[in-house]
Amino acid sequence: MPMRGQNTQVAFSEVNWSTLKKLLPYLFEYRVRIFLALLCLVGAKVASVGGPFILKHIVDGLDAAGGADKTSVALYALPLGLLLAYGLARFANVMFGELRDTLFGRVTERAMRRIGLTVFKHVHSLDLDFHLNRRTGGLSRDIERGVNGISFLLRFMVFNIIPTFLEIGLVVGLLWWNYDVYFALIVILAVLFYVGFSVVATEWRTRFVREVNTAESRSSTRSVDSLINYETVKYFTNEDYEARAYDRELAEWEAARRKNRLTLFALNGGQALIIALAMTVAMILAANRVLGGTMTLGDFVLINSFMMQIFMPLNFLGFVYREMKGSMANIESMFALLDRNPAVTDAPDAVPLEVSAGAIRFEHVHFAYDPARPILEDVDFVVPSRHKVAIVGSSGAGKSTLSKLLFRFYDPTAGRITIDGRDIAGVTQQSLRGAIGVVPQDTVLFNMSLYDNIRYGRVDASDDEVEEAIRLAHLDTFIARLPEGGETLVGERGLKLSGGEKQRVAIARAILKRPPILVFDEATSSLDSKAEQGIIAAIREIASQHTSLVIAHRLSTVVDADNILVLEEGRIVEQGNHETLLARGGRYAHLWAIQQRRRETPAGDVASA
Ligand SMILES: Nc1ncnc2c1ncn2[C@@H]1O[C@H](COP(=O)(O)OP(=O)(O)O)[C@@H](O)[C@H]1O
Ligand SMILES: [Mg+2]
Repeated sequence: MPMRGQNTQVAFSEVNWSTLKKLLPYLFEYRVRIFLALLCLVGAKVASVGGPFILKHIVDGLDAAGGADKTSVALYALPLGLLLAYGLARFANVMFGELRDTLFGRVTERAMRRIGLTVFKHVHSLDLDFHLNRRTGGLSRDIERGVNGISFLLRFMVFNIIPTFLEIGLVVGLLWWNYDVYFALIVILAVLFYVGFSVVATEWRTRFVREVNTAESRSSTRSVDSLINYETVKYFTNEDYEARAYDRELAEWEAARRKNRLTLFALNGGQALIIALAMTVAMILAANRVLGGTMTLGDFVLINSFMMQIFMPLNFLGFVYREMKGSMANIESMFALLDRNPAVTDAPDAVPLEVSAGAIRFEHVHFAYDPARPILEDVDFVVPSRHKVAIVGSSGAGKSTLSKLLFRFYDPTAGRITIDGRDIAGVTQQSLRGAIGVVPQDTVLFNMSLYDNIRYGRVDASDDEVEEAIRLAHLDTFIARLPEGGETLVGERGLKLSGGEKQRVAIARAILKRPPILVFDEATSSLDSKAEQGIIAAIREIASQHTSLVIAHRLSTVVDADNILVLEEGRIVEQGNHETLLARGGRYAHLWAIQQRRRETPAGDVASA
């Protein structure tokens, strides 16, 4: 598994704070809410700082009353009001906090939704090459991590970091104002030491946290890979081998966790020491003044509760610091996805393609996936309107590549492709792709029902149209045999269907789409001869009103084509109809002879199925 997710190890200095700026537009949808949440935040902190003050007056009151005349009315009146106020302050603190969470939650969720959708759309707009070069699993993990990172970052920025420092500021100010500079100084020094220590210790721990993460994903990759290969493991009875390999990964994980725990112990221990020292010094100072008569017992209690109040949220700081760093990096790698530009884009002046006749023309097309290895060289042919042109040739000749160029998954390196005289590079991809129906060589299905997969060809098709497509694709008898009929789930990527069944679903989809141009890429290669004949008849029927490009492996399926192109190593070496090509006695005639011979021995047919 690529260790892209180990972003937690990025040093804070490397984190790009401009990422936060990119986030802002997504937050500003709810300006008022954010403002109210910030008000609540301030309210909560004022209430929480007010608590100790009220407590001080209660203690002072009780202290004074303890020495006074027991029948005094003030004894009962004074503390009751303050006690109520104290309770109110506590309640207000919690309520404001809850209100802030509730108000801000909506902001976070909306931002997550907007960004998630933006990235999803963008990733769909990227070119095929990008997707072929990436594991989809890793990609969706990146998006998920990024979106969760946003939630984490906002939550901890707004709900933890900002309030904590706001509170520290308030307390320091109040201590300074009410007493002298020493208490404020103790708090400032303690906070500085605490934060400094936490940052340094957390950076040091990062390596161990990373080790745990690496070990975690390695062991999970191992187990997933092993379980995916369930059948292969059984074929070679390698269960023990797999278990041993998995246990080796688990042992590393265990060791990494141990180290991680020990470093956490050191971090927490150091933090506790700093807090305890600061508390002790402040308490000694306060106790001294109480004895010297410059401070009351209430002041002593006030300082104690301030100290407790400040240091409690600081405890989370190390954790929050590390997590925020990780979140920033995750968000950054998600935004990096957004910065990627697709290789195939609509021209600025692109217009929608309007297909009238549907004539296709490849004009001296050259193409290479990798500049070092040309795939197509000077491919030049026409498919006249409503005609059927076949492309045959050995595997790897570049046949599927032709259909990918027509569909504009890639742009030719030289030459151009036109439809009704219009360069496909100058029309919108949406309109171009809407005009072409492709039955691909390998069909991958959604893990939905058979019906839903077929309906995918045109999502607003009526039930009757779906039934018709099913009939034309010869799927009706198959579906009738299924206990759950068309509602049967096809399994991940359609793995519960046979190759031929998947191809028929793909054909039904293309039929349903009813585009003016059809491309069949070895659409019947996984069918046996009998099923193939039925489908070919169906394709012939549908294709008669369309322009069609048929890529075929078995020549018997294209004998009726108006023109047959023989592609070898990216070049058209022969073309003509079946009879002329046979008469020529060239490459086509040779292939035909081989396949005819194989046809006569039934075993040959099974082998190719
Ligand atoms: N995305 C890709 N990146 C690099 N090479 C590719 C890619 N797709 C196909 N190829 C190569 O291009 C050649 C032609 O492939 P293709 O058009 O699929 O052949 P076929 O005639 O069998 O359909 C093959 O040798 C294949 O390895
Ligand atoms: Mg192919």
